Amino acid sequence: MHFEAEQVVTKKNKTVILRPASVDEAQALIDAMVDIAETSPYILMTAESFRKQTVEDEVKWIEKYANDPRSILILAEFEKKIVGILNFGTNKDPKTRHRGSLGISLHHSMRGEGLGELMFKKLLRELARVEDLLQIDLAMMGDNHQAYNLYKKVGFIEVGRTPLAYRQPDGSFCEDVQMVLPFSGKKSPKTSNGKI
Ligand SMILES: CC(C)(COP(=O)(O)OP(=O)(O)OC[C@H]1O[C@@H](n2cnc3c(N)ncnc32)[C@H](O)[C@@H]1OP(=O)(O)O)[C@@H](O)C(=O)NCCC(=O)NCCS
Repeated sequence: MHFEAEQVVTKKNKTVILRPASVDEAQALIDAMVDIAETSPYILMTAESFRKQTVEDEVKWIEKYANDPRSILILAEFEKKIVGILNFGTNKDPKTRHRGSLGISLHHSMRGEGLGELMFKKLLRELARVEDLLQIDLAMMGDNHQAYNLYKKVGFIEVGRTPLAYRQPDGSFCEDVQMVLPFSGKKSPKTSNGKI
């Protein structure tokens, strides 16, 4: 999805640009994800698997978001460096295309100053253009309290937990938490039994 870049200011008074990704920054995007995975236990992929990603694959990944009017990839840039990545895509199957899911991760130096919320607000503004989007789904590791609080703050509701969902490198397990955000699409949702 195409969208216009926007400037936002974090709680620590840093001016950050929220903008689309360009294909010539594929390697920078891989490097940013390596850094994020190295500094957070809550990312599903490991730093090692990000390191193995090729520039060609990353270019395809960026193009997929740029060319699909129902998907969006928002980068946060601070001092010419990628410090945040938010990707959202809608489902393709006719029975689930009213739903989408997302992932968000910030560079360790930019966590805890409200940038996640600013990126979500930008996402929700841009998603208003997506026809028939009624629900945003996400899944997260149960002990990621910062992410949980952010998601609650922007309106997500917890709908379920899967025990033993993830095993960390130290051998400990944690739950998967599923959350949804009802999205005010253009049509009012109706269930098969007629109830909303
Ligand atoms: C999770 C993440 C996206 C949150 O974005 P953020 O901008 O750092 O979020 P914030 O610091 O604004 O925190 C959101 C809320 O959680 C609260 N919070 C902050 N640190 C916390 C902590 N250690 N424990 C519990 N709550 C915390 C804050 O109080 C804040 O609410 P407030 O604005 O009302 O004070 C970001 O920290 C990140 O990328 N982390 C590493 C990767 C990751 O976990 N991605 C998500 C995978 S599901």
